[in-house]
This record gives sequence, structure tokens and C-alpha cells, in this order.
Amino acid sequence: MEDEYLAQLKNITFGYNEKLICNSININIKKGQITAIMGPSGCGKTTVLHLITGFNKTNEGSVIVFDQKIEQLNRDQLFQLRHNMGMLFQSAVLFLDLNVFDNIAFPLRELNLLPESIIDDIVLMKLEAVGLRGAKDFAIQNLSGGMKRRVALAQAIARDPALLLLDEPFAGQDPVTTGVLTHLIKLINKTLQTTIVLVSHTIQNTFEIANYIYLISEGKIMGEGSPQELINSRDPWVEQFIKGLPDGPIHLRYPAIAFAQELNV
Ligand SMILES: Nc1ncnc2c1ncn2[C@@H]1O[C@H](COP(=O)(O)OP(=O)(O)O)[C@@H](O)[C@H]1O
Ligand SMILES: [Mg+2]
Repeated sequence: MEDEYLAQLKNITFGYNEKLICNSININIKKGQITAIMGPSGCGKTTVLHLITGFNKTNEGSVIVFDQKIEQLNRDQLFQLRHNMGMLFQSAVLFLDLNVFDNIAFPLRELNLLPESIIDDIVLMKLEAVGLRGAKDFAIQNLSGGMKRRVALAQAIARDPALLLLDEPFAGQDPVTTGVLTHLIKLINKTLQTTIVLVSHTIQNTFEIANYIYLISEGKIMGEGSPQELINSRDPWVEQFIKGLPDGPIHLRYPAIAFAQELNV
């Protein structure tokens, strides 16, 4: 049943110039679920998110989001489509000259549709959701890294997006903050029924909350399944990735040489 998906990448082949990043990739994003995309650094995770938003246009295959083919949309239609997407990108920056409240209000005011009294209610609700209601008047530069990430998350869900794209939300965060963010992402998914695509390196937290996980490398899907299915997998690549083992089919060094062997030289 196709309509159980909010987004689909069908047979996507995409590269920057000659460099192939996706080689006939299929990814299905189920409604109401958290789908995680994992893989070594530089494997193309951010690229996949940019294919979903239409920042990247596929060379082959089709990207379908909200029943529309991304590659067939013009600029205005893409903007319209993105109104229904929340994004938290790696390079996400908050407006330093606006306080916490105004940062979250920004995407709502941009719509030019809502009276300030409604915006006020929505912003406080989102701040409550990320546990920062008490910090609404704070200047951004006075927040810790974890609080900034939570403000960015509140900003990303300000418009109640049907689809929330999170690019490495745990990057650079301490273990406690990572735990808080993990819990928040699951809470948003459960209470607002937001469909989430989670790009992350953090195996433990990602496996804790994702319903389905894709492992990508070298342009291919190396493994996919529920967290339990992947944990039970006897595939050498999947096992090495999940356990973070230095030896196996994933080569960290070029030219390929077993890590242990290299240490013994
Ligand atoms: N705009 C671009 N032009 C050319 N190469 C790019 C561009 N964006 C990313 N790349 C390259 O594509 C590969 C995949 O990048 P990316 O999707 O950012 O990986 P990941 O998010 O998994 O770390 C990397 O080798 C990166 O250097
Ligand atoms: Mg990335």
C-alpha cells in the first residue's frame, strides 16, 4: 500500500558532478514513524535529506513527497511543499539578534497569516514541548549547546510539520543532553504524530527510538530493518557498523588495510 508512505525515494541515482553518491537507492518513509538513516561520514546522508526537500534534484528515479514528484515541481510549488516540512540541519543557526521566543515565532510570522495572540500561544506550546518555557526571554548567546539545539527543534516544529527532517541532532552534545533530545524526538513523534527522518551517528539513541533504519555506504543500502532485525543481522557489514569494530568489510584507511594489521606493522 503506497499511501502508508509520506515520502519515497524510488531508484534514485544521484551524484555531484561525476561523483556518484546514491546508486539506485530505495527508501520508504512510513507515516507516523521515525525512520533513521545511518552510515559512515560522507556516505550521503545529508544528500538524501536534500533530495527529500528538493534542494538536490535526482538524476534518475523519483522522489515522492506528500504524493508529489519533487523533480516535477517548480520553485513556487517546492516552497509550498516545504511549508509542511520542519528541518533541523547540521549547520542550523539561530538568529543571534532575536531572543528564544522570537526565534521560534519567526517561521510563524513569516507566514503572515496568524495574529500575534495565536503566535504567542503556539510558541509557548512549542517551548513547553522542549522544556524551555522558562527560557523564552533568554538571549541565544546565553544558552548552552543543548538548549540551543532544543530551541532549534522547537523552531523546526513551530508550524506543526507533517514531516520533520533531523540531520545529526545529537552532534556535539553531551550524553545527558543526547538522552534528553532522544526523548524529545520520540515525544514529538508520539504526541504530534510527526513523521520523522533522523540522520544520526549515535547508534544507541537512534536504535532506541527508530522504527526502521537504513544503513547506507558507497551509494548503496547496506542493510535495513527494525532495530531488532539489524541487531540480529549476521551480515558482516551490518555487524561491523553496529558494533563499531575496527576490522571488517568497512575500510577506514586507504588503501584498504586491516586496522589491527596496521597497528602491528
Ligand atoms: N554540493 C556538493 N558538491 C560536491 N560534493 C558534495 C556536495 N555536497 C556533498 N558533497 C560530497 O558528497 C558526499 C556525501 O556528502 P553528505 O551527504 O554530506 O554525507 P554525510 O551527510 O553522510 O556525511 C561527500 O563526499 C561530500 O564531500
Ligand atoms: Mg551530513
